[in-house]
Amino acid sequence: MVRNLISIAVVALTTAISVFAQQTEEQRVESLLQQMTLQEKIGQLNQLSVGGFDQNTAGMMRSGLVGSILNECNPKVLNRYQKAAVEESRLGIPLIISRDVIHGFKTMFPIPLGLAATFDPELVQQGARISAVEATASGIRWTFSPMLDIARDPRWGRIAEGSGEDTYLDTQMGVAMVKGYQGEVIDQTSMAACVKHFVAYGAAEGGRDYNSTGVSERTLRNVYLPPFEACVKAGAMTLMTSFNDNDGIPSTGNGFLVNDVLRGEWGFEGFVVSDWASISEMINHGYAENNKHAGELAFNAGVDMDMMSYSYISHLEELLNEGKVSMEAIDNAVRSILRVKFRLGLFENPYIDEDKVESAFYSAEALEAARKSAVESAVLLTNNGVLPLDKSKVKTVLVTGPMADAPHDQLGTWTFDGDPAHTVTPLKAIKQLYGNDVKVIYEPGLTYSREFNDDGIAKAVKAAKKADVILAFMGEEAILSGEAHSLVDITLKGDQRKMIEALHATGKPVVLNIMAGRQLVLDHEVAHSDAILYSFHPGTMGGPAIAQLIFGDETPSGKTPVTFPKHVGQVPLYYNHNMTGRPANGREEMLHEIPLRAGQTSLGMTSYWLDCPFAPEFPFGYGLTYTTFEYGATAVGAAEVGTDGVLKVKATLKNTGKKEATEVVQLYVRDLVGSVTRPVRELKGFQRVTLAPGESREVVFELDIQDLAFYGKDMVKKVEPGKFQVWIAGDSASGVLAEFEVK
Ligand code: NOJ
Repeated sequence: MVRNLISIAVVALTTAISVFAQQTEEQRVESLLQQMTLQEKIGQLNQLSVGGFDQNTAGMMRSGLVGSILNECNPKVLNRYQKAAVEESRLGIPLIISRDVIHGFKTMFPIPLGLAATFDPELVQQGARISAVEATASGIRWTFSPMLDIARDPRWGRIAEGSGEDTYLDTQMGVAMVKGYQGEVIDQTSMAACVKHFVAYGAAEGGRDYNSTGVSERTLRNVYLPPFEACVKAGAMTLMTSFNDNDGIPSTGNGFLVNDVLRGEWGFEGFVVSDWASISEMINHGYAENNKHAGELAFNAGVDMDMMSYSYISHLEELLNEGKVSMEAIDNAVRSILRVKFRLGLFENPYIDEDKVESAFYSAEALEAARKSAVESAVLLTNNGVLPLDKSKVKTVLVTGPMADAPHDQLGTWTFDGDPAHTVTPLKAIKQLYGNDVKVIYEPGLTYSREFNDDGIAKAVKAAKKADVILAFMGEEAILSGEAHSLVDITLKGDQRKMIEALHATGKPVVLNIMAGRQLVLDHEVAHSDAILYSFHPGTMGGPAIAQLIFGDETPSGKTPVTFPKHVGQVPLYYNHNMTGRPANGREEMLHEIPLRAGQTSLGMTSYWLDCPFAPEFPFGYGLTYTTFEYGATAVGAAEVGTDGVLKVKATLKNTGKKEATEVVQLYVRDLVGSVTRPVRELKGFQRVTLAPGESREVVFELDIQDLAFYGKDMVKKVEPGKFQVWIAGDSASGVLAEFEVK
């Protein structure tokens, strides 16, 4: 009898489990939602920051009052919290554990701006996959990345965290990261992506973080929103609203953007989280009266989860009772969060296998991908032939500068978990890899990037006299970029310029390697060096990558993902600016050329500065290598094409030098006449092409004419027929154009 009962119970349970398993995600969401109290629903919308285990927070989890946590990644602590949610709460809904895994978890990759310089989305996807494998082993199933903010102002410290100034490049990088984090197949190594910051945060006035922005709806739609739309279409599970107020409306209270554009126009089904306290900060903005009002505004704007404002957990029930928010909207917000939790398999696998955590870190594959990413992200800006070093001629090198052996700083901003003990610095790598070929003298000169130190410089200069070549590692410490770390002066800090000048004065060749979180103003460095290799903050394996590039075992292939200004006063300076009525033509007179008391000269009436040329130091898309490439004229497959057509655009690329190398071949377009003014050039494609010395290849792009669509005068996205120019070129400022007409 008892045995019968047991077997009936087992059959019933197995049936229940398999019925549950057969239920669609939506059915599971609905059946759970039916069982939830209002408090439990609101709890799912609440995200808390935790540090260590505390009983109060665990108590909230037992009562179903927390949907997600951030900032903790100790597996033991996380398992305890998860147990409180899964085994000790009424409905057992798992937490979704989040963290800022921005360019690596343990193995640090180059900062995102550096990754963008690779123009290699496949490699970036692989890096994001590796970050997900490492982070999910520690229980992190949700990262606040990719940051898709277009940034045209290097004073803004967070330019380091994104892909730079160009919409197309940003889109390719963002989609690659989303695919990498989440995985092609969702499994236990999938980490939900969070596209951020929605939107225009990178346009902060004056480059000062958290500042207001004033981007028009048309520019939002043409420049700032496309990367978000593409990532949503690629399956990004979550999105974060930004801190800024744009045109007077804080993003976290902007229903037009979240409800209408994101959900209505793009069909986003994931969930939206606020930025840290960006709900309650609407009080500071003068947009909300108090935290309750802020919650009402954010919730009705479509923000599902409250990160650290305690607004929903404290006031949403009251707001519902007062009829200020609806039950339907609460249910929908809960649905979108539960959907992601089901999709990630958190209900089946909520816990971390504590024994396997460590073995997931710093694998050989991860380190190699990080090294390769650092190689591809380095941009050779100048070279008078000193690079690559010729080991048969160079007997002694001086390794100097504050970044030569800075294991923490070369990792860059947002390095929470990457351990500097694993960093391979240039000094270490040069000694390890080339210590048998050349004698290495190390004399740092300056010990950190902001230091003023005449004695240190004197020592470096003395040491330089014993060397054949000076390898100077300069740049910015990690803390000079990133969130809330903006600058007005974007030249090298401390005594670095003085030191470079002193080293240069020795007459020995100076090879500069610059590690920084942004593009810097480099006029002085260009004048006082023989080569500049710019590697942004290159991550854990930056040392071997840079050493191999310097000694010629790797060839540079990175291209600038941002325009490098000559002077900070040119900022914002970006290649794809609109056509002005009086474009600069390169014949402008500079201040020192204008005679005293002269009237206005006829040449000067264009859009430029009297005391600085219009041109940048280095344009977008620029980068040299150890060979030379020659571009043939751009040719189009047809002179006319329909709005739904595809146009073949081609050019012959020839390696005219002596080394095999990879060139990032870029496709640019200009729409000559529009219903609104259009950019002088826009990137529409790129390919990495590797050629042996003497080899030529016809590089072909298939330009989908629909990719030329934009929001014109009537604010409808479409291709406007007319004449276009097109270039296949090695950067945004060169190339021989061809023309075509869209009919
Ligand atoms: C604030 C930052 O703006 C955001 O990017 C980050 O993800 C959150 N803090 C969480 O750390």
